[in-house]
Amino acid sequence: MIRIVSACALVGIVLLAAQDVSPLAQTVPAQGAKEIAKQREDLMKGLWPDYYRDMAQAAKGGGDPKTVKTAEAIAQLKKFATLFPPGSGREGAPESRAKPEIWTQRAEFDAANEALAKETAAFGEAAKAGNADAMKASWAKVAEACGGCHGGPSKSGGKFRFEE
Ligand code: HEC
Repeated sequence: MIRIVSACALVGIVLLAAQDVSPLAQTVPAQGAKEIAKQREDLMKGLWPDYYRDMAQAAKGGGDPKTVKTAEAIAQLKKFATLFPPGSGREGAPESRAKPEIWTQRAEFDAANEALAKETAAFGEAAKAGNADAMKASWAKVAEACGGCHGGPSKSGGKFRFEE
């Protein structure tokens, strides 16, 4: 009896050890995948009303450029990059619009995200300086950087997002 129990315990330990080294150990369970996909969807949906709408306005000469929240927008983008654990695409979260390319071409995806962060920071500098021409030029690059992953309109697809 004791031998069986200790044999089982040993199998358990071996299984646990195997899990630790397996890349599958990092894959999120289906429920967690849905939650994390929802988090990234909500984050993305907030970008325009919470940060980029004011920037667009400032670029057109409206609003107060000094109040644009570019640092906060960049913080959101940094957080966005952490919300793609393996298994959280449509295989775990069928409603997600995240394309498999995010996982297979991760370096390019991260570069697109960093490009947007960089252009957002440049816009912040132009806004702080109150430089209308620089803001206008910079805004075009910000909008283009959104297109690094998908088109602007909410139904648009793109390299890293499904159309619907
Ligand atoms: C690094 C890539 C990337 C960049 C850059 C990017 N997005 Fe997204 N966006 C995505 C992905 C991926 C999704 C789909 C997420 C999901 O469904 O899991 C998405 C979804 C969205 C959605 C829709 C949410 C939904 O219902 O699916 C909106 C709106 C959005 N993005 C706006 C923007 C705006 C505005 C910008 C630029 C300021 C931007 N995005 C830049 C990758 C990006």
